[in-house]
Amino acid sequence: MLTWMPELYNRSLMRMTSFTDAEMLNLVDLAAQLKARRRAGVRGDLLHRRQIALIFEKSSTRTRNSAVIAARDEGGGAEYLTRPDIHFGKKESVKDTARVLGRIYDGILFRGFSQKTVEELREYSGVPVWNGLTDDFHPTQILADLLTIKESFGTLKGVSVAYVGDGRNNVANSLMMGCAKAGMPYTCCAPGELRPDGTLLAEAREVARGNGADVRVCENPAEGVEGANVIYTDVWVSMGEESKTAERIKLLRPYQVNMDLMKATGNLGGRLIFLHCLPAFHDFNTDVTRECGALEVTDEVFESECSKVFDESENRMHTIKALFVSALNSREAL
Ligand code: CP
Ligand code: NVA
Repeated sequence: MLTWMPELYNRSLMRMTSFTDAEMLNLVDLAAQLKARRRAGVRGDLLHRRQIALIFEKSSTRTRNSAVIAARDEGGGAEYLTRPDIHFGKKESVKDTARVLGRIYDGILFRGFSQKTVEELREYSGVPVWNGLTDDFHPTQILADLLTIKESFGTLKGVSVAYVGDGRNNVANSLMMGCAKAGMPYTCCAPGELRPDGTLLAEAREVARGNGADVRVCENPAEGVEGANVIYTDVWVSMGEESKTAERIKLLRPYQVNMDLMKATGNLGGRLIFLHCLPAFHDFNTDVTRECGALEVTDEVFESECSKVFDESENRMHTIKALFVSALNSREAL
């Protein structure tokens, strides 16, 4: 039997702090249960007649497909809506769109630029809204990362994470808080220009302290990764920042995750995994890497035994399903 906290009913996810620490951990455990259930061949009806709107202003492979299949697997439906498809933000305000879609759908997943947009959708739609990535946060990603880490180490508390690269992007912001909430020591290895925002850092430090962990920032990557069990990186240029490509490549070259950096953890061959939210510039098969070579991670690390990136990407589906199932089923209805 699947179990989860009844408090998760009707809940939205704006950023990692939308859930208590216990609720966040409970969602990860529910995702593990849903994963085992799917592996056992069960396609249930936990989302029967639930319809989810997917509003996407930015591209997506994992988030979009995870949401569609999560809904479909459990008897529900999802409609993919991009800006040119609907009047959103052009002819019709976010507030009006929220009120219209909230009457039609049971939930809304949003991916786009402004955090304010996803918060407005939540405020006016009257249904649960999930943040599938904004410029500031990427909380659904971090649920999948936590599940992957738990699968690798059997636990979260005390597992040490080093994030290397753009320390103030959406993934880094959410990972820092996710680790703090789970009691995982977190080190951000980034140049001064790309260190985490002061307010977010202070907030994460306070949460981490309460859970017996700490949050560190270190400019020297080889020093920062020492003792890490998880090396995590993301693209150097996030969606919407393309004009900064040349500047970022120059700034972040010393932060590339390669075998030397993996060795600098002191854990290679032992308790060490590599994670990346993907997509990753690791080879010569994309427009960017054909010109510049591997960027944030080398092929050697990406394809190594340590790399859990495809487990991580599969876990996007199970964790998004956990969000949908827990938010759209009250205890009484089950
Ligand atoms: N990691 C992630 O969010 O991937 P997509 O951009 O493909 O959704
Ligand atoms: N930081 C990246 C994450 C992609 C999943 C971006 O925003 O493009």
